Amino acid sequence: MVVVKRVTDSSLYDMACRIRFEVFVYEQGVPEEIEIDEYDASAEHVVAFRDDKPVGCGRIVILDGSAKIGRVAVVKSERGKGVGRKICEELIKIGSEKGVNEFILHSQLTAVDFYRKLGFEAVGGIFKEAGIDHVKMLKKLEEAT
Ligand SMILES: CC(C)(COP(=O)(O)OP(=O)(O)OC[C@H]1O[C@@H](n2cnc3c(N)ncnc32)[C@H](O)[C@@H]1OP(=O)(O)O)[C@@H](O)C(=O)NCCC(=O)NCCS
Repeated sequence: MVVVKRVTDSSLYDMACRIRFEVFVYEQGVPEEIEIDEYDASAEHVVAFRDDKPVGCGRIVILDGSAKIGRVAVVKSERGKGVGRKICEELIKIGSEKGVNEFILHSQLTAVDFYRKLGFEAVGGIFKEAGIDHVKMLKKLEEAT
């Protein structure tokens, strides 16, 4: 069973960082000096566990009422089993609990359809980030009536 936990201490944060390095730095070639950035300290992070094993992570940065989801990563052997979806759902829940109803992210081109399935829409053109093609995507939560 997969459980997504909110990061509340440094040992959970270290687990998230290890997955980010495995996926972004070693698998995708993102320079390690930009993987941990200035938003990391204030972001809310989550780690997904299958049983007791950390298998995925993600973060949400909330600044001036806007929320940016990022650093969503699932270890290779666990992809395609719903882990990424659960991570994003938890990040959106964190944002909505803080009163945010609009979420942005920069999706790698290869992940656009993954985020579409979660209700994000592409806005604008393709741009490079860490040497990888990205597209900005946006999701607005339905207003409660
Ligand atoms: C992108 C990523 C986070 C997706 O996580 P995942 O656990 O494999 O995704 P899920 O199994 O939760 O997929 C949810 C749905 O999206 C689909 N999906 C997943 N990855 C997809 C992709 N790259 N392209 C199209 N559809 C995708 C799944 O088939 C599933 O569809 P369904 O609901 O119809 O069954 C994961 O592949 C990953 O870590 N990739 C490397 C890092 C990365 O690119 N991160 C994104 C940075 S912007």
